[in-house]
Amino acid sequence: MSFALESVGLVHPNGQRALRAVSLSAASGERLAVIGPSGAGKTTLLRVLATALRPGEGRALSLSANPWQLSAAALRKLRARIGVVHQAPPIPPRLRVVTAVLAGRLGGWSTGRALASLLYPVDIAGAREALARLDMADRLFDRCDRLSGGQLQRVGIARVLYQAPELLLADEPVSALDPALADAAVGQLIAHSQTQGATLVASLHAVDLALKWFPRIVGMRVGEVVFDKPAEHVTRAMLQELYATEGAVLPTQGNDPMALEPWCSGGAAAPGDSGATLPGGAIRSDALQPGGATDGDASQPGGSTRSNAALQPGGATGSDASQRPGARVLPLTRPGCR
Ligand SMILES: Nc1ncnc2c1ncn2[C@@H]1O[C@H](COP(=O)(O)OP(=O)(O)OP(=O)(O)O)[C@@H](O)[C@H]1O
Ligand SMILES: [Mg+2]
Repeated sequence: MSFALESVGLVHPNGQRALRAVSLSAASGERLAVIGPSGAGKTTLLRVLATALRPGEGRALSLSANPWQLSAAALRKLRARIGVVHQAPPIPPRLRVVTAVLAGRLGGWSTGRALASLLYPVDIAGAREALARLDMADRLFDRCDRLSGGQLQRVGIARVLYQAPELLLADEPVSALDPALADAAVGQLIAHSQTQGATLVASLHAVDLALKWFPRIVGMRVGEVVFDKPAEHVTRAMLQELYATEGAVLPTQGNDPMALEPWCSGGAAAPGDSGATLPGGAIRSDALQPGGATDGDASQPGGSTRSNAALQPGGATGSDASQRPGARVLPLTRPGCR
């Protein structure tokens, strides 16, 4: 088990309730996208999983441990196994990119090695390799305050790839990227999860990105999980209900209403598809790939943009072709969204 929330409730100090009786769990290596309108509680949920927020109600286990029952030293060790991609990475502005990436492993390093790395980067090749996956290798020695918001976001992703955590939590990790870069960056997170066996939980604004890459989709609204389904069981009707408070407009990359067509061609939910939470809900993305994953381009429905090839230097994501994000078949025959 990677994490388990049992009837978790959380009220922020200002009295704002952010989570209500949330029960959710995932096995190691699962990949979940959390979607829902603004204020639904996505960030709060991720912060609970990251052990940054202590829930006032229920029980929250991360990597099989109850963080709030651990000693300070054990909690530090647990946190070193959890990686977080923030929407706006909290990187000190004067820091160089290489140091910011290497900081991903600070929690797992001895004090001496960590201090040494601040003075002189101890693993420049490792940092460069992580940045190359995000097409950022040429910015290795730049200062972070010389980067754009989107470049900084990619440095934040490179940092967590370098950290190689067992539980990877990403809060709107590509919100500052254009659609092609966002697609490729999510592909890198997915590839990392596949090759390392890491559990990946990402909150995503763009519903099309979530349905395209993630085998399991969790819909949240006003602090509750309203559905928890394999991606191919998510219907347009379920999505419209989820985003009802936003005029049932389904947010997509580039605000393109056609972007959901490959995934959601119909309207009504199938009989019995009530949106009830699935037990476990585990499903491998491979199961959604008819004919095996071999050629990404041939399988891109609706002309969806793929710039992954440009972001994969030297097979950085693994030698098994079926594990390259660019190779994930986006099946035209996939049941998708009904
Ligand atoms: N630090 C905080 N202090 C007080 N209230 C907060 C805090 N963070 C979030 N909230 C409130 O908790 C609720 C859930 O917020 P949260 O940030 O988790 O939502 P979200 O789904 O991530 O939204 P968004 O899509 O806008 O990022 C909201 O009502 C929000 O106002
Ligand atoms: Mg948020």
